[in-house]
Amino acid sequence: AVERTLSIIKPDATRRNLTGKINAVYEDAGLQIVGQRRIRLTRPQAEAFYAEHKDRPFFGELVEFMISEPVVVQVLQGENAIARHRELMGATNPEKADEGTVRKQFALSMGENSVHGSDSPESARREIGFFFSELEILPCA
Ligand code: CMP
Repeated sequence: AVERTLSIIKPDATRRNLTGKINAVYEDAGLQIVGQRRIRLTRPQAEAFYAEHKDRPFFGELVEFMISEPVVVQVLQGENAIARHRELMGATNPEKADEGTVRKQFALSMGENSVHGSDSPESARREIGFFFSELEILPCA
């Protein structure tokens, strides 16, 4: 089925001017970027977005990192988009990511791993709603 997923191009990637290269991976794979905005996350926004990780040891580091530079938030649309996007990103740990994936090519570490993607239909719905209104999501016919 056609799905939508929430993607974030993270500060380590925006800082290295990799937005276009990452978008090319997604577009070349047939995902449509149907919503996109470059923003600076506030601390409360980053804490709320990652609330499920608030008890993890890396939570503080994760929030500091996510507010350190602008990010690009986007809605990707396509057949099986949630799983497809996760394949294109590769494993969270770049050392374990498959050849050709975004994280294999660009990620610096487990924390500075260049991209985020929703991991289920439920999180996709929540995460898209966190950043976008329906009016800002504009698929081509
Ligand atoms: P993301 O897909 O955005 O979801 C949670 C993030 O936490 C994850 O990507 C990583 O960037 C970060 N993360 C996960 N594990 C670790 C870790 N061990 N150390 C630092 N950051 C981590």
